[in-house]
Amino acid sequence: MKKFLLLGLILVILGSLMVTSASCTSEPLKVRVASDATWKPFEFVNDQTNELEGFDIDLMNAIAVKANLDIEYVNVAWDALLAGMAQGTYDCAISSITITEDRSKAMLFSAPYFEAGQIITVLKSNTTITGKANLSGLVGAQLGTTGAMEVEKISGCTLKNYDDIGLAFQDLMNGQIVAVVCDNPVAMGYVGQNPNTLKIVGTVFTDENYGIAVAKGKTELLAKLNVALQELIDEGFITQLAVKWLEK
Ligand code: ARG
Repeated sequence: MKKFLLLGLILVILGSLMVTSASCTSEPLKVRVASDATWKPFEFVNDQTNELEGFDIDLMNAIAVKANLDIEYVNVAWDALLAGMAQGTYDCAISSITITEDRSKAMLFSAPYFEAGQIITVLKSNTTITGKANLSGLVGAQLGTTGAMEVEKISGCTLKNYDDIGLAFQDLMNGQIVAVVCDNPVAMGYVGQNPNTLKIVGTVFTDENYGIAVAKGKTELLAKLNVALQELIDEGFITQLAVKWLEK
């Protein structure tokens, strides 16, 4: 009788060991992640290492560990990123993507992970533009971004589209355009780098939330991302990333 009990116990222990080892060694899910790495400090190419870096990259890497994902980044231009997400070319995208109603028709979104908004940058010597109310003239923004959409709404402004926001700031400093409209953390970065040439005017004038975009139909991936993201939010990881990457 005792022998049977012991055998039973051993079998139960062996069984549970097999279950745990199976779940530990299960193959990671391969995921192609698109990002337009021209948006410092959220996603950019480190010119020393040629690797992608930034707030979003740290976040996605942490999500990948938690959700057991084998991720491969694809660095792609912004308009191609949105088009590719709509066509299912990539599994997901992390790229400071503002969750909008329109985009939600073409792709899924994770829970929001960061709040940002549009802000205006001008030359430090500019005394006529003091905010959105008196913004006029040729204004630069990245093609297809919420910044570009906002500029188009302001009467008296003519939008100049750029594939890369860095080129817009260059044109601003060369006097080709009068202002740049983009997400506030990005503007703060450029102003921080060029404190004698550039300044921010007015306040953040839109209310936007960044989300990770997921190709339509990939609901299982979306669920995994959301679980990992919530854990990271609860652990204070997002707050740590803000301290690490954002201007104080
Ligand atoms: N948040 C803005 C938008 O969704 C700009 C994002 C641009 N991101 C980038 N990586 N270039 O339209």
